[in-house]
Amino acid sequence: MNVNRRQLMTGTIGAAAVAMVASACASEDGGGEGGGGKVGIAMPTKTSERWILDGDNLKTSFEDAGYEVSLQYANDVAADQVSQIETMVGQNVDVLVIAAIDNKSLSGVLAQAKSQDITVIAYDRLILDTPDVDYYASFDNTKVGTLQGTYLVEALDLANQAGPFNIELFAGALTDNNTKYFFDGAWAVLEPFVTEGKLVVKSGQTTLEQIATENWDGAVAQERMDNILSNFYNDGSVVDAVLAPYDGISRGIIASLQGNGYTTMPFITGQDAEVESVKYIIEGLQSMTVYKDTRELAATTVDMVVAVLDGKDPEINDDTTYDNGNKVVPAYLLEPVSVDVNNYQEVVVDSGYIAEEDLA
Ligand code: BGC
Repeated sequence: MNVNRRQLMTGTIGAAAVAMVASACASEDGGGEGGGGKVGIAMPTKTSERWILDGDNLKTSFEDAGYEVSLQYANDVAADQVSQIETMVGQNVDVLVIAAIDNKSLSGVLAQAKSQDITVIAYDRLILDTPDVDYYASFDNTKVGTLQGTYLVEALDLANQAGPFNIELFAGALTDNNTKYFFDGAWAVLEPFVTEGKLVVKSGQTTLEQIATENWDGAVAQERMDNILSNFYNDGSVVDAVLAPYDGISRGIIASLQGNGYTTMPFITGQDAEVESVKYIIEGLQSMTVYKDTRELAATTVDMVVAVLDGKDPEINDDTTYDNGNKVVPAYLLEPVSVDVNNYQEVVVDSGYIAEEDLA
């Protein structure tokens, strides 16, 4: 919290200073855009609430700090995102802030960006196999998975119960670098109980390739859950827990379970604290979500940009974890928070992230 507020403040003040210098230079040149420069923001999709909030928060924060902003969404189509970034490069942006759809599709366009001295920040999702990404702003993605796995272990009371309990596993899109971190974090907690026999994956589907969900799409997850239920739970057995990486996927799984006659839900995880899922948590349909304050992520990103354009080194707190295949990308990682029916009020409502009336 302190970090956030401090960063937001230094970010804003720093940006205002940069804006003043930049506009002074611009008027000496007899041109320029005014403000602190141009920022191109490439977001993946509007189908998920979090990216809409991310885009809005970033746009407002950069504009408040005196920057001109181009914000684009690519509807989960990687090639469209590449074209959008090409356009931004053509518009001579100073900085690109990119939440990649396909982490390996951007090398070409980023090489172009680098040749024009554009600073590139990987936003939330790391961009792989390129030297041309300067910084990474995200959350502790392994911890997201740890929180999800730990929640299930505690909900099933595996320390004291022998089980066996049936669990099914879901992961995100294979094109998203975070997917592996989320799953590895959760699996490190869950796997020992599978080995011990207290948890059973009746489908046998435990590899990332088997459990991934294309485009993080809830409908894809719903269909996979339907298949799992009809193929592996047609003997009267029930699913006791589901590892789900993201709220949209959790809701797809819940729809499948409801369609298959479940009136009491298994323990089901999630991520992003989307309004619909927090409502589900209150109703007892979904067990938990992992809250990641996108306002903090926007503030961190603005702070990075301000520092870079000011000729300074941005504050980072991790220079070992995120190897993108070409180099270790210096990162600032924020803390995710586990949210369930006991703390949603304090964590997501009292903090102003979700308005109380939206949950009515
Ligand atoms: C983000 C998650 C999000 C997922 C699906 C991931 O890269 O880190 O917060 O749930 O994408 O949009």
